[in-house]
Amino acid sequence: MSFSLPDLPYAYDALAPYMSRETLEYHHDKHHLAYVNNGNNLLKGSEWEGKPLEDVVKGSFGKNQGLFNNAGQHYNHIHFWKWMKPGGGGNMPGNLEKQIIADFGSVAKMKEDFIQAGATQFGSGWCWLAVKFGKIEVMKTPNGESPLVHGARPIFGCDVWEHSYYIDYRNRRPDYLKAFVENLVNWDYVAEMYEAAR
Ligand SMILES: [Fe+2]
Repeated sequence: MSFSLPDLPYAYDALAPYMSRETLEYHHDKHHLAYVNNGNNLLKGSEWEGKPLEDVVKGSFGKNQGLFNNAGQHYNHIHFWKWMKPGGGGNMPGNLEKQIIADFGSVAKMKEDFIQAGATQFGSGWCWLAVKFGKIEVMKTPNGESPLVHGARPIFGCDVWEHSYYIDYRNRRPDYLKAFVENLVNWDYVAEMYEAAR
């Protein structure tokens, strides 16, 4: 099984003004495509050829840096497109909300911690909500890493590489994170990943 670029689940201009057509054209059509193409080239002849994506990500971590970078970013971006939707934000499904309140005290505190993690990730990387030992926690990782390679299941993540926000927000990463959490997130998909991770 080789990597392939999934279509965006919405139109390129559907997330404006929070994420522009130009950002999505570069981010999806060029950056994600490059991870797919480079990943496929590096998969060829490796011990992970034909393996499911999660196995490639976990197996190549710490063993084959080039393959890991591209497979990790392919995995992250497949979910990233689905963690957003037009008219996102708002209320989340009850089971997810209950667990977040149990683990953070409130939804507002979770959002604050998530945004803080993204804002303080030095250089390129991601901030996350992940399930670890039955609890939801905030994590941050550099480059193409994710909670998958740190003993946890990712259920929500935000790409804080500059390619994800620089066209629309320039250097204002915290503004991008706030808009992402308040206006773009597809909580139904987060809840779906939460149910699968439990
Ligand atoms: Fe990205």
